[in-house]
Amino acid sequence: MKKNVNTPEEEERYEFTWPGKRKCIEEANRACEDKLVFDAEESFRADTTANLYIEGDNLTALKLLEAEYAGRIKMIYIDPPYNTGSDHIYSDRFTAGEAQGSSKGNANGRSHAAWCSMIYPRLYIARKLLTEDGVIFISIDENEEFNLKKICEEIFGEANRVGEVIRKTKSMTADDGCGFNLQHELLLIYAKDRSKLRLKGEKKAFANYSNPDNDPKGDWCAGDPSARSGGPSTYFEIENPYTHKADLPPSGRYWAFSKESLKRYIEEGKIKFKEKYRDGERGFVFKRYKADAKSQYEPVHSLFAVENEYMNQSATVELRKIFGSDVFSYPKPVAYIQKLVQYCTAKGDMVLDFFSGSATTAQAVMEQCAADGFKRNFIMVQLAEEVDKKRNAYKEGYRTLCDVGRQRIRLVAERLQDSADCGFKAYKIAGGADR
Ligand SMILES: C[S@@+](CC[C@H](N)C(=O)[O-])C[C@H]1O[C@@H](n2cnc3c(N)ncnc32)[C@H](O)[C@@H]1O
Repeated sequence: MKKNVNTPEEEERYEFTWPGKRKCIEEANRACEDKLVFDAEESFRADTTANLYIEGDNLTALKLLEAEYAGRIKMIYIDPPYNTGSDHIYSDRFTAGEAQGSSKGNANGRSHAAWCSMIYPRLYIARKLLTEDGVIFISIDENEEFNLKKICEEIFGEANRVGEVIRKTKSMTADDGCGFNLQHELLLIYAKDRSKLRLKGEKKAFANYSNPDNDPKGDWCAGDPSARSGGPSTYFEIENPYTHKADLPPSGRYWAFSKESLKRYIEEGKIKFKEKYRDGERGFVFKRYKADAKSQYEPVHSLFAVENEYMNQSATVELRKIFGSDVFSYPKPVAYIQKLVQYCTAKGDMVLDFFSGSATTAQAVMEQCAADGFKRNFIMVQLAEEVDKKRNAYKEGYRTLCDVGRQRIRLVAERLQDSADCGFKAYKIAGGADR
């Protein structure tokens, strides 16, 4: 409908919409009649595992998972088709015909509306599956980055935006035609409830901490005893008992403690007077103990994935090593997803990937369990997308992408032996409405 240029202001509002949005919300809320059917033949070590591999459309799968897994998934990682318009081993083109309500596609036939209608209902249900302290990581590139951000802000809420990580995708320098070389993609991070999320980055190195005086409280380093704000009660001289020289706080600052606390700190050994020191040096050390550090972990740095080990090429090489040939296009590096598993999950947590492709996320979960000894589980969902006859994967005997994903888990299991739960119960969706 043509917009009336004289629309009264109260009818205008800030919103993100596209042709087909209403229908896709209805779709998300529509009850699902389908069922998950256990597939004993495809399952692997089914008797001893809590892992699931679901073959079928992920919207149906998410609806079916809701009954048992609502509020139980600690981490979701997804790497949806980016809508690049290129032909990968999986379809990566969302065309105008797929957009309910229809909108014209762009130059190569892609439609942003169709992509939005695909991702919205899936994220809407995915949010319900997260634990209260759960988190979702979404890989995306420049094609749908802006639409994805708008949709995530609507579904998860601006207040639950955690941030984004930049992953270096390639080291090659190629001019895109206007003198620009794009070498990275993004990982959007949203929490179910940001106030409850606690990510743990790398273990702090505490490199400058030591214990030269055998302090029973352990390793320490010299901290800053001064503070920006204070008053007369935190501005006083501290006399060194050996040299009788007195220290005042640095100009414009105060001590970070009162006289009473100073007395206690001296008794406890947190403040240690120096027997000898140079002119101009403070006559005492204010110890900061490793044990008192608020966290033993660094925060997760948004640039952690700019190292070459996280590039596309590493993932291609590692998958080639597992299968002996290239059976998937653009898998993600295991180390990359393993870092995410390490940063946000602990013993007993469940990880979900509902665009699982070659099942990199399953491998990342298993590898992390083997590395730290904590049991975690995964749920993989993958459409039974047929492999084109011309592809390597077909020549190797894989007929669908699910065959590739399931086989990867089995092959990795051989190497990891019993150091992780590497089995899976395989399911198919009966009567599933595949895309
Ligand atoms: C970008 S790939 C994911 C690659 C994966 N991260 C890896 O490392 O192998 C996207 C995957 O989502 C799958 N997919 C697309 N639409 C789907 C749907 N509706 N339900 C389930 N899987 C789907 C595609 O078949 C493809 O394997």
